[in-house]
Amino acid sequence: MMAAAKMKVLFVCVCFLAQSLAQNLELPRLPYEYDGLEPHVDEETMRVHHLGHHAAYLATVNNVLSMLRSNETTKPLAKMGIDKLLQNLDQVPTEHVTPLRNGGGGFVNHFLFWKCMSPNGTRFEMDDVFGKAVTAQFGSIQALLQEFREKATKLFGSGWTWLVLEHSTKRLYITTTPNQDTPAMQVGHIPILGLDLWEHAYYLKHQNKRAEYISSFFNVIDWKATAARYEEALKQPKTEL
Ligand SMILES: *[C@@H]1O[C@H](CO)[C@@H](O)[C@H](O)[C@H]1NC(C)=O
Ligand SMILES: *[C@@H]1O[C@H](CO)[C@@H](O)[C@H](O)[C@H]1NC(C)=O
Repeated sequence: MMAAAKMKVLFVCVCFLAQSLAQNLELPRLPYEYDGLEPHVDEETMRVHHLGHHAAYLATVNNVLSMLRSNETTKPLAKMGIDKLLQNLDQVPTEHVTPLRNGGGGFVNHFLFWKCMSPNGTRFEMDDVFGKAVTAQFGSIQALLQEFREKATKLFGSGWTWLVLEHSTKRLYITTTPNQDTPAMQVGHIPILGLDLWEHAYYLKHQNKRAEYISSFFNVIDWKATAARYEEALKQPKTEL
């Protein structure tokens, strides 16, 4: 290799390393317009939710990451990546644990949530890999949705309802988490569909009528993307971040 080319490779490598050390997380773009989920999910809620709430979780987690980076002892933690950090909160200095758990969890949960929806939803396919797993494990998609609805309805306070794949057993299960906790805090548990049940996700339009909001969500679920996430998660036990 010519010296100049070698220098170039070296330069690129050094830049890449510096970037992964200094990297801030970014607010992802929505995969549709703010009014794209109308009439099921309203534009105003989507704007406030994405630009207000998601952005606030992002600011919190980036602030913690920059504090971790600025200290030689905690610098390696910031390099872990947010998913891994949330699985290793016991290694994080006490003062950073709560903001990391709430801000980091809020960031990754919303990152997935936007991708769980699409305009008018997409069809659930009984015959693909995911569809077959759903039928084998829940009996039918209707049974899955009924259990999902029950758990979402009963969840007390703020939190999420999830469809999760446990990688080691290939088991799909429905669960809830409080606050901004994510099922992915447990190694090998990959959320593939999530519903935000904080009032900020529905109060503008539905007020106290959570059941109505759950039905609206069912209308916009992107099953195609969910099936793709399932297949990916079967291969490797990690989320997209
Ligand atoms: C760096 O972080 C460690 C671990 O939390 C802490 O003990 C130490 O005081 C910090 N150093 C500075 C300069 O803040
Ligand atoms: C969604 O469905 C409604 C009612 O059937 C229809 O008017 C609208 O065009 C659809 N939107 C998209 C993006 O497919």
